[in-house]
Amino acid sequence: IDELIQDGVEGKRIFVRADLNVPLAGTTITDDGRIRAVAPTIAKLAAAGAKVIVASHLGRPKGAPDPQFSLAPAAARLGEILGKQVSFATDTVGDSAKATVAALANGEVTLLENLRFNAGETSKDDAERGAFADALASLADLYVGDGFGAVHRKHASVFDLPARLPHAAGDLIATEVGVLKKLTEDVARPYVVVLGGAKVSDKLGVIDNLLEKADRILIGGGMSYTFLKAKGHEVGISLLQEDQIPVCLEYLARAEKRGVEFVLPVDVLVSADFPDLKTKAAANPELVASDAIPADKEGLDIGPKTRELYASKLADAGTVFWNGPMGVFEHPDYANGTKAVAQALLDCDGFTVVGGGDSAAAVRILGFDENAFGHISTGGGASLEYLEGKTLPGLAALED
Ligand code: 3PG
Repeated sequence: IDELIQDGVEGKRIFVRADLNVPLAGTTITDDGRIRAVAPTIAKLAAAGAKVIVASHLGRPKGAPDPQFSLAPAAARLGEILGKQVSFATDTVGDSAKATVAALANGEVTLLENLRFNAGETSKDDAERGAFADALASLADLYVGDGFGAVHRKHASVFDLPARLPHAAGDLIATEVGVLKKLTEDVARPYVVVLGGAKVSDKLGVIDNLLEKADRILIGGGMSYTFLKAKGHEVGISLLQEDQIPVCLEYLARAEKRGVEFVLPVDVLVSADFPDLKTKAAANPELVASDAIPADKEGLDIGPKTRELYASKLADAGTVFWNGPMGVFEHPDYANGTKAVAQALLDCDGFTVVGGGDSAAAVRILGFDENAFGHISTGGGASLEYLEGKTLPGLAALED
């Protein structure tokens, strides 16, 4: 954006596609990391005299207004972070957006309502997306793409809109891509990858790619039970993607062939009941070996031996990429696995990257100092797809 600013942006209406998809409890933002991450770009453009129109999605509404996914709380928080009033349009391309944008003075900032309240944003139909992108384009003179968390989505505001306006990448995208690119090049070794989160199917692409690059892959969270099952262990009522077992077996075999250490939990905390995340009432988990999960229980966190094992595998790391929590970290009885991995990253001297909406939020919610990590990405799916080597629509659209 510095080039854009040098060319002069005073009085220009700049559409900034941000990713303000933050976790909410009702209307309270529980982690504002994504808002803070994009705020410098917005501040820089406003300081240069632009009229800044910020837009984002929040959650997955069904292409129509749905109050539980309103971005109004994000407008208030963005205003606090910027230290200036951020006006809010209650629609995306309707009367409210047009009036709010028309009322902007140089250096002022507005936020549009959730882009996904319009079916054209996520449509698979090029014409429908294009029509929505046309309507968005009519609001602005220039486009800045800075919603790194959404660059893997071929959506109207991410992919189609930059083709309609002179465009530039924002500072957040530039930083994110700079860091992730490093992980695809010559990395300091050992290169240790920690993967968690619920679904193994979300991580297969990245495992496929990292099996060629990493020295160690440590698995935790819901996805570990499909690997444990693939190794012949019973997993009770734990999260399981039975149809993914063949590919898990293939990856385990490939890891062995390539000499990549592929490490699974050796013990887990289990319970017959999923914990109450609202009351956080004591869950009294039981500790069992990972090959002895009772038939009526589900695994909800890695156990103490696994915590120690994973810390030891991270201690000498030259580079770490971590995506996905080790357990149900939102409940204190199941947060220790995720905490232990975060602490192990802090304790190692290597370059550490935390990727992912959930693991990034976990680090902050669990009270770690985010600045102590090498880099905390704002992109979950986006950082994984980048490391998979895929072409990301939102980056491709900015490349020219
Ligand atoms: C994310 O949280 O990963 C991004 O904001 C993208 O959201 P989506 O998965 O709903 O497209």
